[in-house]
Amino acid sequence: MSNLTFTMIKPDATAKGFTGAILDQIIKAGFSVKAMKWTKLSNEQAGEFYAVHKERGFYKELVEFMSSAPIVAAVLEKENAVEDFRKLIGATDPSKAAEGTIRKQFAASIGENAVHGSDSNENALIESNFFFSGLERF
Ligand code: CMP
Repeated sequence: MSNLTFTMIKPDATAKGFTGAILDQIIKAGFSVKAMKWTKLSNEQAGEFYAVHKERGFYKELVEFMSSAPIVAAVLEKENAVEDFRKLIGATDPSKAAEGTIRKQFAASIGENAVHGSDSNENALIESNFFFSGLERF
């Protein structure tokens, strides 16, 4: 069990003005912010972040979407962080996400699904290190 996870509020959600509402729900669910930044990925950076999906048919679309507008990247702390955060955001496909989850409320489609959440403790660490140095975490 790890106490850390990594999230991004994705371009669809920042563009629609959902950033504040999503952060509010994350914090009310008991997560505390260890690091956070408003940034915009280049095509190359988005490709590197999602390199694990390189062979998938949706890779190009995913990389273009993730570099299309600003995102919020954050490292979050809570007991059982990875699993609890995935419960809070709901299924990858918002049409299958449970009522009350962040994706059910704010996501439009499987591609434009409002938020990212790490799928394992190992990836939480890799993804956090992609965006943040030690000096940016408190
Ligand atoms: P995320 O949790 O950020 O991790 C990988 C992303 O790939 C996922 O959210 C979706 O946004 C995207 N994705 C997964 N499956 C598909 C799909 N079938 N079509 C488009 N995008 C997808």
